[in-house]
Amino acid sequence: MSSPTPTPSPASLPRRDFVKTVSAATVALGLAPALLTAADTPAAKPAAAATPASAPSSRKRFAIVGNGGRSRMFQEAIQNTYKDHAELVAVCDKNPGRLALAQKRSEAAGAKRPAGYAHTDFDRMIAEAKPDTVIVTTVDATHNEYIVRALDLGCDVITEKPMTTTPEKCQQIIDACARTGKHVRVTFNYRYAPPRTQIKELLMSGEIGDVLSVDFHWLLNTHHGADYFRRWHGEKKNSGGLMIHKATHHFDLVNWWLGALPVSVTATGKREFYTPSMAKRLGLKSHHERCHGCPEADACAFFMDLAAESSLKALYLDNEHHDGYFRDKCVFNPRIDIEDTMNVIVSYDTGATLSYSLNAFNSWEGYQIAFNGTKGRIEHGIVEKIYVSGTNEVQGASGGVSTRVIPLRGPARDIKPWEGTGGHGGGDKLMLDELFLPSTPADKYLRASDEMGGAYSMLIGAAANRCFLNGQPVRIADLVAGLRRPNMAPMPTRLDPVPMPASGKRRSRD
Ligand SMILES: NC(=O)c1ccc[n+]([C@@H]2O[C@H](COP(=O)([O-])OP(=O)(O)OC[C@H]3O[C@@H](n4cnc5c(N)ncnc54)[C@H](O)[C@@H]3O)[C@@H](O)[C@H]2O)c1
Repeated sequence: MSSPTPTPSPASLPRRDFVKTVSAATVALGLAPALLTAADTPAAKPAAAATPASAPSSRKRFAIVGNGGRSRMFQEAIQNTYKDHAELVAVCDKNPGRLALAQKRSEAAGAKRPAGYAHTDFDRMIAEAKPDTVIVTTVDATHNEYIVRALDLGCDVITEKPMTTTPEKCQQIIDACARTGKHVRVTFNYRYAPPRTQIKELLMSGEIGDVLSVDFHWLLNTHHGADYFRRWHGEKKNSGGLMIHKATHHFDLVNWWLGALPVSVTATGKREFYTPSMAKRLGLKSHHERCHGCPEADACAFFMDLAAESSLKALYLDNEHHDGYFRDKCVFNPRIDIEDTMNVIVSYDTGATLSYSLNAFNSWEGYQIAFNGTKGRIEHGIVEKIYVSGTNEVQGASGGVSTRVIPLRGPARDIKPWEGTGGHGGGDKLMLDELFLPSTPADKYLRASDEMGGAYSMLIGAAANRCFLNGQPVRIADLVAGLRRPNMAPMPTRLDPVPMPASGKRRSRD
């Protein structure tokens, strides 16, 4: 049984339904009627003259495109914490219901109601609302369209990870940056989590010398992990699979931690847990279309009750009649084409190698990583809390951080982890300060990422996806032209002397 795609394009929806959907939104939002054709998508429109912002207020003007779960963090930041410096002037979405919710949230926050625009009116939004910066929080596979168009229309861009999902789309972004002379800010919030910044500090300090290899294993449990298979993420055309959608965070961390660039990738990937046959092995009669109204809801431990959680209901269940997107699709449905078990080997320009795995059906959630250096080893891990996207659960809130430095010879040293509070272990707040305050102190870790950081992390995933299909190693340089080294903090190198380790031999006493 096939289900509707989560983000039906004008071309994929019957024109009558699409017009009905968007005109309902137009009326509901008080928008001017738009010409509703596929040619109105940002990618399809010819470049118009740049529209420089001319805001009377000194606050920076922001527009958010994609008003789902993740956009709330940016909206709240703009309308609460950073309201003296930032202003939300427009919101844009394919789903009129979520667009209206974003507008209502503004009113509830006591902020001016931002103008609302259907996704087909992106250019008009830029012309009328004149944002300085567009924040892109749409489905992963559509980021490129808005990034490129916003750059061409003279705006700055902040995008959620992954920057994009395929090498071809990545090339469009790299070319648009070169064409406009602008940079894209990619929000890799994982870099800012205090315990991960602390790992960067340890590596920069040279305590374990230069890193020759890394062993990195990321586990997703059957709550959070399963969630990827329920949502749009379960289809590669939307998310690029977990190698892109999820692992972009992890590959970016390694690139940044090592201050190194990936050169080649080999990988294997498969899906064995979130499958129709696993539904039967678990005692269900069959897979189904979705949880809501599922005949086997009582028997399935993967059942998600969208109606029972008010924010999920308001965001998704109440708005699915607009676009046919079900937030609670069956995790055993055959429409899923992403992997749940992945192994990747990456070689770096420093000579370091990474052995990485990602598993999406595990008994706990978090990761373990070991850096093997010329002077010793760092072992680090975080056990994360159960987390379901869109709820009030805070990822990483339960702590469970361990970090240990082990010299080549000598006693190990347990390190007290740096701490933070709030989203993503305190990382979100630090990153938001950088995004929305007029100035912040210089960052010795260079955590702010541009399009090159965004490209190098997603290209490892894209290379892995390619290797899943043909088994051949993939060279990053063969995927995209025009890559350059991002600005990276200085790290220990292969040229540094390495002190002879303690001999450990007992000297004779004659
Ligand atoms: N950094 C992080 O930790 C983190 C966490 C969650 C999500 N994200 C990223 O944020 C982005 C959004 O994820 P989410 O969880 O909010 O998803 P979501 O499904 O809740 O929201 C996506 C929104 O985009 C809209 N949309 C889809 N296609 C569109 C199009 N072509 N034009 C305009 N609007 C469109 C949808 O209607 C929806 O409102 C994704 O790129 C995701 O990878 C990052």
